[in-house]
Amino acid sequence: MTDLFSSILSAEESLFSNEMALDYDYLPKELPFRENQQKYLAECIQLLLVGRLGKNLLILGKPGIGKTAATKWVLREMEEKGLDEKAKPIFINCWKKDSAHKILLEICLQLNYKWTHNKNTDELFQEVAKTINKSAAVIVLDEVDKLDSKQVIYQLLEDLNRKCFFLITNEEDWLANLDERLRSRLVIETVEFKPYSAIETFKILKHRADHAFVKNVWDDEAFELITERALEKKDIRLGLFLLREAGNIAERKASRKITAEHASQAIEKVCSFTSKEKHEVSEEEQQILELIKENENKTSTEIYQFYNEKENKSYRTFHRKIKSLEEAGLIEIKEDFMTESGGRISRISTK
Ligand SMILES: Nc1ncnc2c1ncn2[C@@H]1O[C@H](COP(=O)(O)OP(=O)(O)O)[C@@H](O)[C@H]1O
Ligand SMILES: [Mg+2]
Repeated sequence: MTDLFSSILSAEESLFSNEMALDYDYLPKELPFRENQQKYLAECIQLLLVGRLGKNLLILGKPGIGKTAATKWVLREMEEKGLDEKAKPIFINCWKKDSAHKILLEICLQLNYKWTHNKNTDELFQEVAKTINKSAAVIVLDEVDKLDSKQVIYQLLEDLNRKCFFLITNEEDWLANLDERLRSRLVIETVEFKPYSAIETFKILKHRADHAFVKNVWDDEAFELITERALEKKDIRLGLFLLREAGNIAERKASRKITAEHASQAIEKVCSFTSKEKHEVSEEEQQILELIKENENKTSTEIYQFYNEKENKSYRTFHRKIKSLEEAGLIEIKEDFMTESGGRISRISTK
């Protein structure tokens, strides 16, 4: 008889040795297959380090393929090499900080400027410019398409002397839809991030799994199932999520191995999973979602009226938030309803 108990995981044991290594925000020590893009980012920053004007880059590519990680990695490297004295690295996620005021407060925080209390947006601008213009800055606006107003980019461009703007997005037409005035002022080059190949996806996930799991807990077939899925969706983030989920399922079953069955269950469970960015709902979107729930199948104009009573925001802002709720699969917009004058009406409902 095989050793019955050795295949069962005891309560104190875990298949994970460092679960954090699978976290979305965890920045691995090495970031293979993005060396060229990182080198290009570093070359642009180098201009600032030698006292020249910087360069602006649009970092473009699908979700989950290392845009944020590669950029953060470069900024971390700057700090580790003490180059932040010559150019301040600033990283802002525009999903979390979507207004000019929030962005400026965040810049102040990262510049270690503490006297922000009671200052209005213009005053914050002045303080930021004063501090940054003593040296230079690398300003990353991640998920820049989520910005409420693009005016803040314009003003930063105007007020800062030596800077690199790295704007990250997965919206291919973001630049084309930009105000002509801002676009011509930006002078921006595009750095494209292409999805990883099969072998790259495998190696990246293997590397992350080696850090996160106890040795030899993965059945080859189980691991392959997960890499195949990540490759199909062209999304490393999804791969990391599946690795973790399969590990959890195996643990719950007190198994010492993660088998193909556990991997399949993880895939089944998260097959509706799109991407973290799409699943995270901001406070304002949550508010809109509540309104939609209370008013199922009303038209978008009607919902906007309710929203406007409370929030006094532009229809465009509202519309963008509606679109991102739709993208996240949280609501459904039906647009085939004709009005008497021939216009279209969209009705919104929750899923
Ligand atoms: N080359 C790589 N090596 C290791 N991990 C990677 C690599 N590329 C992406 N990842 C990981 O995949 C996840 C998604 O990457 P991220 O940079 O957030 O994607 P994006 O910003 O393009 O949506 C992160 O957890 C990141 O650490
Ligand atoms: Mg990102």
